[in-house]
Amino acid sequence: MPARIAGTGRYLPTEVLTNDALAQRVATSDEWIRTRTGIRQRHIAAATEQTSDLAVNAARAAIAAAGMQPADIDLIIVATATPDMIFPATATIVQDKLGIRHGGAAFDISAVCSGFVYALAIAERMVSSGGARNALVIGAETYSRILDWSDRGTCVLFGDGAGAVVLVPAPEPGIVTAHLHADGSHRHILCAPGAIQHGAITGTPFVHMDGAAVFKFAVKVMADVAFEALAAAGLSPTDVDWVIPHQANIRIMDATMKKLHLPEERLVVTVDVHGNTSAASIPLALDTAVRDGRIRRGQHVLLIGVGGGFTWGSVLVRW
Ligand code: UT7
Repeated sequence: MPARIAGTGRYLPTEVLTNDALAQRVATSDEWIRTRTGIRQRHIAAATEQTSDLAVNAARAAIAAAGMQPADIDLIIVATATPDMIFPATATIVQDKLGIRHGGAAFDISAVCSGFVYALAIAERMVSSGGARNALVIGAETYSRILDWSDRGTCVLFGDGAGAVVLVPAPEPGIVTAHLHADGSHRHILCAPGAIQHGAITGTPFVHMDGAAVFKFAVKVMADVAFEALAAAGLSPTDVDWVIPHQANIRIMDATMKKLHLPEERLVVTVDVHGNTSAASIPLALDTAVRDGRIRRGQHVLLIGVGGGFTWGSVLVRW
């Protein structure tokens, strides 16, 4: 049985940190951040909010949009690079907070900013093979906790948030095709190279990035994996109604659209509102475009992820 997305949801923490407010903390400006990245503001989780809390809020919205109850969910995958703790998996904490008892599988996956696309591809395979029925796929992050707030090269880029979808069996394929890739030889250009050993943090537990190298790599692989999905589906770029790339930087997104020879009007952009929210960025943008009525039944939506590892992937959805 094929799988389709039956509901979407999103959650952004209440606190908004504008570029002007950031410029009070580090040597930057609203003009620099907007022209280099397209970001106007980001949301910051409250001290009492964990990644699982953001995830649960997005999940409840997605489950309600699917016309379901939490008890109907029998698979939970949380894509995150900022889990609540070392273990258990944030997905099991989400399951508990949703009140699901004696449920199906719940686990996290770590593919950084490609995490949502990875999780959706895995869930699609589990649902379509009969291994699960109603899957909850979440991207949720609290990057504000792993940023060096004195490093203007990284702290201006990221934010906190969560997005979720519910995947169900369907007679027609909603998930048309999915393609995942990684190349670990590029892992040093974007990483948070800290570890916990014998009770102490070793290495540097903050986001480290070679921005220019990430930029170049992202533009190349996003276009490659978009073309890979289109070839597998027998479609051309003009058959795509909406492109939803990882919301990292408007210039990376624009460059990807140019390589696809698609007009900007088909690009969904939310990076201005929430910055780079890593695994949460694609489902945040997806839910925005579903709820404001841009995405309509029968349309083709191309999700493209790219992130640390390096990892990248695409999921082509017929809505
Ligand atoms: O999920 C993937 C995550 N990462 C990304 O998507 C990031 C990809 N890379 C980028 O988006 C861009 O490379 C950046 C936005 C990070 C940087 O833009 P850029 O046009 O590549 O700028 P740059 O690195 O060449 O830096 C230009 C200048 C430097 O000053 P000097 O050395 O020319 O004097 C930086 O020190 O801008 C300076 N700079 C800043 N200035 C004001 C770096 N960060 C800031 C800042 N405010 N926040």
